[in-house]
Formats: sequence, structure tokens, C-alpha cells
Amino acid sequence: MNKLIFLAIALLSLSPNAVLAADADAAQMAKNLCAGCHGPQGVSTNELWPNLAGQKAGYTAAQLRAYRDGTRTDPNMNGLSMTLTDELIEDLAAYYANIE
Ligand code: HEC
Repeated sequence: MNKLIFLAIALLSLSPNAVLAADADAAQMAKNLCAGCHGPQGVSTNELWPNLAGQKAGYTAAQLRAYRDGTRTDPNMNGLSMTLTDELIEDLAAYYANIE
């Protein structure tokens, strides 16, 4: 019985709709929140704000986790990343990695 429930959840989380929903959240957040500093296309217009477009997803996700747990410090990014879930971090990283 438990195995069946597990399988159902696994299948559900692999369904294209679930993936799209997660991507949509990240894309929305990137546009509404991150774009203010990192640019609408992940290319910043300020010398002190890094570009994110085309960056390796693994690197971006690692930086967001480091800001969240305080290993890497920045007054802007520490506060912002505190609200990010692991899933959102992965999706945001994938979002920026896929912008050429
Ligand atoms: C208020 C401006 C601001 C906003 C909004 C902002 N950032 Fe940043 N971000 C920065 C600054 C400044 C840095 C460089 C900080 C440093 O030197 O560590 C940075 C660094 C980063 C880095 C590290 C880049 C690298 O090359 O190491 C990542 C990844 C990142 N931001 C992602 C995001 C994401 C995702 C969002 C939206 C959830 C976001 N940022 C929103 C200002 C901002």
C-alpha cells in the first residue's frame, strides 16, 4: 500500500504539468523580484550586480544555498534567499542556466 502511494507521488511529481508549474513559479519570481537587480534577461546593468544568464545551474543553486545559510554574505542576497525553498532554488538556477 505504501509503495503504491509512493509510486503515485513519484509519477505525479514527474508529470509535465507539475514540472511546468514549478518552472512557472521560478520564472514569475525571476521576473518580479530578481530582474530588478539582475535584469529581465539575467544580464545586469550595474557594475556591482552579477549577470546570471547562462550561468551553470549547479553554481547558481550553490550560491543561493550559501546566501540562505549565511556561508556567503551579501546584504541584498541574504535576506532575499531566506524565503527560497530548495525546489525554488533549483528551478531559479535552471531558469537562468537556460537563458543564452
Ligand atoms: C536588490 C538587488 C538584488 C536582487 C533583488 C537580487 N539580487 Fe542576486 N545579487 C545581488 C548582488 C549585489 C549580488 C552580488 C553579491 C555578492 O557580491 O556576493 C548578487 C548575487 C547573486 C548571485 C551570485 C552570482 C555569482 O556569480 O556568484 C546569485 C546566484 C543571485 N544573486 C541570484 C538572485 C536571484 C535568483 C534573485 C531573485 C530571487 C536575486 N538574486 C535578487 C543583488 C540582488
